[in-house]
Amino acid sequence: TTASLVLDPAFTVAPVNRRTFGTFVEHMGRCVYTGIYEPGHATADEDGFRKDVLELTRELGVSLVRYPGGNFVSGYRWEDGVGPQADRPRRLELAWHSIETNQFGLDEFVRWCAKAGVEPMMAINLGTRGVQEALDLQEYTNHPAGTALSDLRAEHGAASPYGIKLWCLGNELDGPWQIGHKTGTEYGRLANETARALRMVEPDLELVACGSSSSGMPTFGTWEREVLQECYEVVDHISCHAYYGDDKDDPASFLASAVDMDRFIDSVVASADHVGAELKSSKRIDISFDEWNVWYGERSRRTDGDGDAWEVAPRRIEDEYNLTDAVVVGNLLISLLRHSDRVAVACLAQLANVIAPIMTEPDGPAWRQPTFHPFAITSRLAAGQVLQVNTTSPTVPTEKFGDVAAVDAVATYDDGKLAVFLVNRSLDQTIEVTVDVSRTGVTTVEEALTLADDDRLAVNTAAQPDRVVPQANDNVRLNDGKLTISLPPISWTALALN
Ligand code: AHR
Repeated sequence: TTASLVLDPAFTVAPVNRRTFGTFVEHMGRCVYTGIYEPGHATADEDGFRKDVLELTRELGVSLVRYPGGNFVSGYRWEDGVGPQADRPRRLELAWHSIETNQFGLDEFVRWCAKAGVEPMMAINLGTRGVQEALDLQEYTNHPAGTALSDLRAEHGAASPYGIKLWCLGNELDGPWQIGHKTGTEYGRLANETARALRMVEPDLELVACGSSSSGMPTFGTWEREVLQECYEVVDHISCHAYYGDDKDDPASFLASAVDMDRFIDSVVASADHVGAELKSSKRIDISFDEWNVWYGERSRRTDGDGDAWEVAPRRIEDEYNLTDAVVVGNLLISLLRHSDRVAVACLAQLANVIAPIMTEPDGPAWRQPTFHPFAITSRLAAGQVLQVNTTSPTVPTEKFGDVAAVDAVATYDDGKLAVFLVNRSLDQTIEVTVDVSRTGVTTVEEALTLADDDRLAVNTAAQPDRVVPQANDNVRLNDGKLTISLPPISWTALALN
């Protein structure tokens, strides 16, 4: 079985956007506590940040981190998390039914971002709060000095403003599980008023309005239209959230999850452009895909957690990912990259322990889930311009999406360097792929890495952290501008050429 693609640097989609490689840190489960922050840990630095996790975050190639939620943000008082740690209140945390100690907060997060080398993306509580609290948070983070809240920040040890540019106006307010859930029009009005006020202080902020919490929501489409009809001119992006899982033991459909992501992005772009056309606006709204990943079951525990235990940092949705999940994650990144003309931001949800590429044990080691690898390698190799890629491929039948292409691919080109990312979504067929690279001028294969395994359910654990890792693909050949490579069933591959 064979597939083929032609790459031409003259046909581009858009520049690779570094913000495609964002992730997400929520005060949920053990993402913060015993994830990125654990003062007593052997690797903890002077701020209590786990250095093993910081190192893995840098290796993952993360560009930006969204914080502090998620559902958590809709009941959060940011003031609880600043100032002397001994004075910070313990609170009931309703979204995940736990106790929030507030030992980690805004100032710690900004310091952690500087150490990790990532841009902070801040979410505002528009569930239980409104315009005034958003303005207070902005004054604390971004005003230089000489006001109550900017001086308070300085008193807390940060004389220079944080200069946070990218803000989410709430989180998933279309969801009935959300504290402060609203109709599209109600939320759109609040987003408009909040955005307008924030821009009175800093006109050049980048603001994200909440889109639907999944394309399966009954209000999907209507929500986007109603929200943007209220706030189109004062926001920059609309969010998408999507989680995929093989809950029905239907691996063929699961492996084709990127087909759903492609459609989701295209429909939200269409919804936004429709409102723009109605408003006769020359402005374009882009997408902040600020939550995406594989996530299995247990969705019902979104709002009520584990009974009424009210624990500090309980284990929540610590999904153990396998090889198949990693191939899907690699394919979802392919989908995001090929939409670089409209996807301005994307965040793999989340970073540590909670549906995460990085796992830790309290007082113990940190390791990479199989999903870590396609993210890290794509972030490292994707550069320059995303190329238009038309693939001719055999198809695989799926229950959910009908026949889909077995091979899916995207490529980037940067001043003589070519990167190609490919998946083989067939459950049982090896596919020989031919790539015509003659127009790119490349002559050398620098790297050819494939993630595959005889056991499609193989996982990494603390005891065996490198069970699933990418291997050099020895079947690659490059002669006279023609590259051939063989892709095993259920595999993800990255090629670097120059
Ligand atoms: O990432 C986990 C949760 O999924 C987030 O808190 C919420 O926004 C989404 O439903």
